[in-house]
Amino acid sequence: MGAGVLPKRRFSTVVRFFLSVLRHGLARGGFFAAMCSLPPDSLVGACAAPVFCHDRRGVGLVGLPRYLAGCGGARVTPDNRNSMQSIVILISGGGSNMAALVRAAQQEDWAARYGAPVAAVISNRADAAGLQWAQAQGIATQVISHTDFADRAQFDSALAQAIAAHGGKDIGPKPLVGAPLGIAVHPGEGARDVKPPLVLLAGFMRILTPGFVQAHAGRLVNIHPSLLPAFTGLHTHARALAAGCKFAGATVHRVTEVLDEGAILEQSVVPVLPEDDARTLAARVLATEHIIYPRAVRRLLAAGLS
Ligand code: GAR
Repeated sequence: MGAGVLPKRRFSTVVRFFLSVLRHGLARGGFFAAMCSLPPDSLVGACAAPVFCHDRRGVGLVGLPRYLAGCGGARVTPDNRNSMQSIVILISGGGSNMAALVRAAQQEDWAARYGAPVAAVISNRADAAGLQWAQAQGIATQVISHTDFADRAQFDSALAQAIAAHGGKDIGPKPLVGAPLGIAVHPGEGARDVKPPLVLLAGFMRILTPGFVQAHAGRLVNIHPSLLPAFTGLHTHARALAAGCKFAGATVHRVTEVLDEGAILEQSVVPVLPEDDARTLAARVLATEHIIYPRAVRRLLAAGLS
C-alpha cells in the first residue's frame, strides 16, 4: 500500500459520510430522523441506526451546530437549584471517563450550579489507575473489592452502602426564590431537598444485580463503547470490525436489569478506517466518550434528573 493511499481513503470515508448527512437531511427533512428510522435489529440498522440519534428525536440539520456545540449553557431550574444530589462515580480501571466527568464538574461548577458535587470515586479494583488521579483532585476514593465477597449480592450490598454514605450532605441554604428582603426564615426552611447520589458507571466492569439496579432506579447511568443496541457486552470494537461496520461509537444510557439495554441518553459516532484494529478504534471511540458522558450528565442535572 503506497504512502498516499491511506490519507486518501480516510478522506473519502469522511467525505462520503458528510455527503450522506446532506443527502438524507435535505431529502427527508432531517438526517437524524432518517437514521433513527432504520430498523435496529438488522445488521445495517444495528451499525447505523443509532448514529447521532439524540433522545430518539430527529434534530435535523438546523440543530446540528447546536448539537455539536454541546449544551454548556444549560439553564438551572428552580427545581435542581433547590435540591442537593451528590455524584458517585464507579470505575474499574484507567478512569479516563471519570476524569472527563470530574473536569466538567469542576470547570462548570456542578456543585453550585446543580447542587451536584462529585462526592466520591469507588473502584472494585485496588489497582485502578483512576483512583490516584481522583485522590489528587481531592475527591474521596474507596476500594470495595468484589473478591472479598462470597457472591454478587453481597458485593452489591456493600457497594450500595458505600454509595449511600456519600449522599445526604447539604452544602448550604436553599435560595429563597422571590422572597422579599427582611422576611424571617423559619428554621428548616432554608434546607435543600437532599436526594440519594447519582451513580455514574465509568468503565465499571461488574454486572449489577437486579436488586441493586432497582434500588438505584432513575439515578444509575452507564457508558458503553458501542452504538447500542448493537454489540452489548464485551469486545465491542473487535466485534464491530468483524461485522464490517463502517461506523462505530459509544452510548450513554440508563441502567436497567438487562445488560446494556436502558434508555439511550447520548451517542457519538466515529468512522471505522480501513487500517483500524480494535485498539485504534477503541482509542477513537474513547475520545468521543469524554465528550458525550459529561454532556449527558449535564443534561440530566439541568433537567432535575427527569
Ligand atoms: C470505556 O471505553 C468504557 O466505555 C468501557 O470501558 C472503558 C473504560 O475506560 N466500558 C465498558 O466496556 C462497560 N461495559 P476508562 O476507564 O478510561 O474510562
